[in-house]
Amino acid sequence: MAKIPKAPTLDDIDPRNSKVLMRIDINSPIEPETGRILDTTRFESHVKTIKELAIERNNALVLMSHQGRPGSTDFVLLNNHSRILSEYLGIEVKYIDDIIGPAARETIASLDNGEILLLDNTRLLSEETIEMVPEKHATSIFVRRLSEHFDYYVNDAFATAHRSQPSIVGFPLVLPSSMGRLMEKEVNALSKVFNPEVEPKIFVLGGAKVHDTLRIIEHIVANKVADRILTTGLVAFLFMVSKGIDIGKQQKALLEKKGILPLVPRARRLLLKGAPVETPIDFKVEIPDGSVEIRALGSLDGPAKDIGPQTITMYSEFFQEARIIVMRGPAGVIEDERFKEGTILLVEKALSSGAFTIFGGGHFNAVFKELNNEELVNRVGHLSTGGGALLLFLAGEPLPALEALNMSARKFLGW
Ligand code: 3PG
Repeated sequence: MAKIPKAPTLDDIDPRNSKVLMRIDINSPIEPETGRILDTTRFESHVKTIKELAIERNNALVLMSHQGRPGSTDFVLLNNHSRILSEYLGIEVKYIDDIIGPAARETIASLDNGEILLLDNTRLLSEETIEMVPEKHATSIFVRRLSEHFDYYVNDAFATAHRSQPSIVGFPLVLPSSMGRLMEKEVNALSKVFNPEVEPKIFVLGGAKVHDTLRIIEHIVANKVADRILTTGLVAFLFMVSKGIDIGKQQKALLEKKGILPLVPRARRLLLKGAPVETPIDFKVEIPDGSVEIRALGSLDGPAKDIGPQTITMYSEFFQEARIIVMRGPAGVIEDERFKEGTILLVEKALSSGAFTIFGGGHFNAVFKELNNEELVNRVGHLSTGGGALLLFLAGEPLPALEALNMSARKFLGW
């Protein structure tokens, strides 16, 4: 069973009228031509912790985040980010185009309680792009330069919790530290997945990241986390081939092109061990004239781009027995109007089932809007902000951010 290190919350360190450094993750998709930030979900997700620290607890709050990776078009400065954050908070978030230089340190030193400052993109610092153990990062120039200005460090960046970089794992070793409210919410909701008392658990796994998804399946099968794994998308085709089901020429060519066929022996091993993996029984197939036909197994001669109605019925019946449903990745090519129905209906059925629902992946926001049913959307148990971090968490691999916070608690809080 996955071991989740216990990490302190804001209630454990109780920072008030102090100087607090907080790691957030407002790394967002950026339109390359204009630099426009295309999705502000992550900004909104940090509002609760920022308000609590700056307004309710009257701290001088300094925020740091990365954006993109050096060399990519979304690797930009954070001036626009501070503007959007200010809009969400309804109070000014100052911005400085510096991180550890004299300008940043002077501004930090003169920041009053209740004020908020956003430093620049942490990945401008080369140290931030290296993965090392917390002990090493605790002695980095980044951590040494900034930590002397602060009383506390808070990590609210669940989406970056899988990185062992100084802004994530270095500060907890030199400052009393805790999770922010978003990190706490993510960890609490996702921990339910590993609670053996809440059963049955159904995982619905789709999308294009087959290698990662197979790793999750291997883990949840080894630890008997899931009672059923309902597959869609490319991962479904992988398991269908492994079961000896004919997936049609196009699907086979796609698996070959994407380097997925070598995974068949691993998938077969899981099935031989009795892994409870279900695969679709019909699909929506694109016909050369642009129309769409429902095809059953054995007649998949064309690109199968969504699950069909019988699969939706079968999977929805499984939902009736679930107490937890974890859904990750779309069931079809949802960018295309003709192939988004499978994903939308699965979400609708999961929300109607009464199970606690956990969703992973930014596309679910768009799917919730499509439902056009506020009452149903209110039943969403948890929508995770994590991409890679969520994958690692579900795969049972340790998250460096939580481990560093646990080390911090042992050092500063006497845990
Ligand atoms: C993400 O979007 O998954 C996080 O912000 C982490 O980004 P990274 O994969 O560039 O570290």
